[in-house]
Amino acid sequence: MVSTSRDLSRTAATSLTELYQQVRAQTMAIVAPLEIEDYVIQTAEFMSPPRWHIGHTSWFFETVLQAHQPGYRVYSEDFLFYFNSYYEGFGVRIERPRRGTRSRPTVKETVAYRQHIDEEMARFLESLEDPAVLSLVRLGLEHEMQHQELLVYDIKHLLSDQFDAPLRAAPVAQRTVAGMAEIEGGLFWLGAHQGSSPTVEEGSVGDGIRSQSGDESPHSIFAFDNEKPAHQVFLQDFKLDRALVTNGEFLEFIRDGGYQNFRWWFSEGWEAVNREQWRAPLYWEESDGEWLIRDFGGLRAVASRAADPVCHVSYFEASAFAKWAGKRLPTEAEWEKAACYHVAHGRQAFPWGNGSPDIDNANLFENGLWTVAPVGAFPRGASAYGCEQMIGDVWEWTTSDYVPYPGFKSEFDEYNDKWFVNQKVLRGGSFATPQLHIRSTYRNFFHAHERWMTSGFRCARDF
Ligand SMILES: [Fe+2]
Repeated sequence: MVSTSRDLSRTAATSLTELYQQVRAQTMAIVAPLEIEDYVIQTAEFMSPPRWHIGHTSWFFETVLQAHQPGYRVYSEDFLFYFNSYYEGFGVRIERPRRGTRSRPTVKETVAYRQHIDEEMARFLESLEDPAVLSLVRLGLEHEMQHQELLVYDIKHLLSDQFDAPLRAAPVAQRTVAGMAEIEGGLFWLGAHQGSSPTVEEGSVGDGIRSQSGDESPHSIFAFDNEKPAHQVFLQDFKLDRALVTNGEFLEFIRDGGYQNFRWWFSEGWEAVNREQWRAPLYWEESDGEWLIRDFGGLRAVASRAADPVCHVSYFEASAFAKWAGKRLPTEAEWEKAACYHVAHGRQAFPWGNGSPDIDNANLFENGLWTVAPVGAFPRGASAYGCEQMIGDVWEWTTSDYVPYPGFKSEFDEYNDKWFVNQKVLRGGSFATPQLHIRSTYRNFFHAHERWMTSGFRCARDF
């Protein structure tokens, strides 16, 4: 059977339509337990009201319709102003810290806007064949999945255990994970292949990396521009913790006066400690000399969660702990090699091989925990080097600056390219990341002082 390019794009559009419906419905499922009053409150400058997220993700698709649907009429100029995030190219917009200062558009109006965009997009996708626009729609869905994760952060900041999250019980540790993996250096192919697959071309096998052509899973068809192109970097031999740093270990740092001793901290970090009066990670509370952690599941003693990965720490806190422990944080290239490389098989898409993430190999949003799982709970997700929970649970801080890879080409103005300054790369996804959204080459990025996102870390050491 001869397959024409038209056939191929129709197939792509059909599966994209299904993916569109699935992703859009998931956003509304996340916010479903909210009461109407919850949707419009902004509890900090860095968070956004849930109403804004559900409108903004629709606004993104409206910009696609405006550009590519002939005759499309803008739904509301006011909505364009309120729901634009930071795009200079799309005109004036409300400042981020002021998103919670308005009660209009109402939640009802925002949901109606969302439904209008969905109807328009359904019609638009029926006849869409242009591969460039199809990939723009896919970008819109990846964007929406990013906002699903941000919704989890923001709802936690807004409500925490007052939110009626559909929690599933956390799995128990199945084994002890300790020590450091010893990883050989040399040339390593970092990043995703230009064709979007998180692999490299056959032929570029200087260090044994092989193509996984034939992988038709959804993971093979998307990567952000900032993950590309794959390029060679040189690594020294290094060691990497097999486990994430836990609450119990972090509590030792606190009890050893870690937050009171300047010697562990970067100058900017020490300023943040004093300015913000940090004495523990975000969401830790002290009561009668005991540290407790509040999350969607309630307020529980750190002692009862000592084996859980520490979460909601800034880059400054992660770096201070590493220095105190006589270690350091890894670079993103070290992280990616430890996660993806197999001495015998070469490059793999994920730590466990080339299969997609599932609820048995990683703690991602579909697991329904709304929190971290203890160290040792996902032996099936171990990398070839024996590092566990590299995908899911917490985004892991690296020392790498968020800068373009050599040969970077922007695929969408202002999406990733304008943030290449003063931020650090985090890897691996978290319990709030959708399974379809995560890749081993994914480069998340935040400022060194931020900690309302699901950020944790593991340490590295030189030989
Ligand atoms: Fe956005």
